[in-house]
Amino acid sequence: MSTETDYKVAQSGEDAFTIVKTLLDAPDAFVSGSILGEKLGISRPAIHGKLEKLREHGFEIEAVRNRGYRLGKEPEVLHPALLRYYLAVAGVAIETLYFPVIDSTNSEAERQITYGRKSPFAIASSCQTQGRGRLGREWYSASADNLYLSVLFEPNIPPQQLQHFTLWAGITICRALQRFTPTAKLQIKWPNDLHCDGRKFAGMLTEAKMDADSMRSIIFGIGINLNSNPSKFPKDLRNSATSLYAITGQEVPINKVAADVLHAVNEAYEACIHNQTIESLPAAWAPLNSLNGKSVTVLQGAEEISGIANGIDESGALLLSQANGSTIAVRAGDVTMKK
Ligand code: BTN
Repeated sequence: MSTETDYKVAQSGEDAFTIVKTLLDAPDAFVSGSILGEKLGISRPAIHGKLEKLREHGFEIEAVRNRGYRLGKEPEVLHPALLRYYLAVAGVAIETLYFPVIDSTNSEAERQITYGRKSPFAIASSCQTQGRGRLGREWYSASADNLYLSVLFEPNIPPQQLQHFTLWAGITICRALQRFTPTAKLQIKWPNDLHCDGRKFAGMLTEAKMDADSMRSIIFGIGINLNSNPSKFPKDLRNSATSLYAITGQEVPINKVAADVLHAVNEAYEACIHNQTIESLPAAWAPLNSLNGKSVTVLQGAEEISGIANGIDESGALLLSQANGSTIAVRAGDVTMKK
């Protein structure tokens, strides 16, 4: 859990950001020490110290006499300066706070509002100690190789306008992540899971606060198994969970993924509040639907509804075809596939 002042620590140091941006803006080229010194307004020996600090955080920075510095490899962990760089590249104007460890990014978003932070803002972390899942479940978040993000918006509009927000966010995020896994098809399992080959690699949890007729705040949280090895997950998850690393066979760039996911969340939010979703929800969902044609059971409390999953309707309900030719529209629940 953070204190009211912790967020200052969570923000990227200005000098680290300037160095990272200058090096990344000159891919494959050397940047001279005097250019860096000028940008930072510090002496060359002082630059050396700052570069050392970045190296300690996993940046590989080459130094060649008379030529300067060149960025080799980026760190494989979240880094506030890199995250800020990629957010700018992706055109995301959402202030993003980074916490190396946090209880839950959703809980931290809630706390930041009570500290007076202006929305929208995002919380990013690679390790949660009390990650929350849907239906009061725990979300396994111990691995430092995964990504946990929450975005808080204060829409102050009638809640109906955002009733499909999580479904749209699933669509825009699935499309964004697909760019990192060109050879594997990513899909959505209704309503809030991202899957690949029948295994879950991400889950979404949206929590909202309402006034009489208005949605006061909405916190969208997503946990993505990114560069973790599923064979190291707790036993009960090993057969059902996967990660983008396991899917692609290589590390995915976590800071860039985080920026692209935040862009996707914002895109879905903006489209919903301005009522500007250009496609119809069922049409956008169809090519990503992992349940299409599958025989499923939906658990709604003590009630079970079975049928053949057949897409979703305009209201976001899952359509289940019945043996007698009728269709049942299911609005909420937990879906399991029949063996
Ligand atoms: C689910 O599939 O049950 C939803 C999981 C949502 C997990 C994310 S991780 C980031 C954010 N913080 C949390 O505590 N939960 C969500």
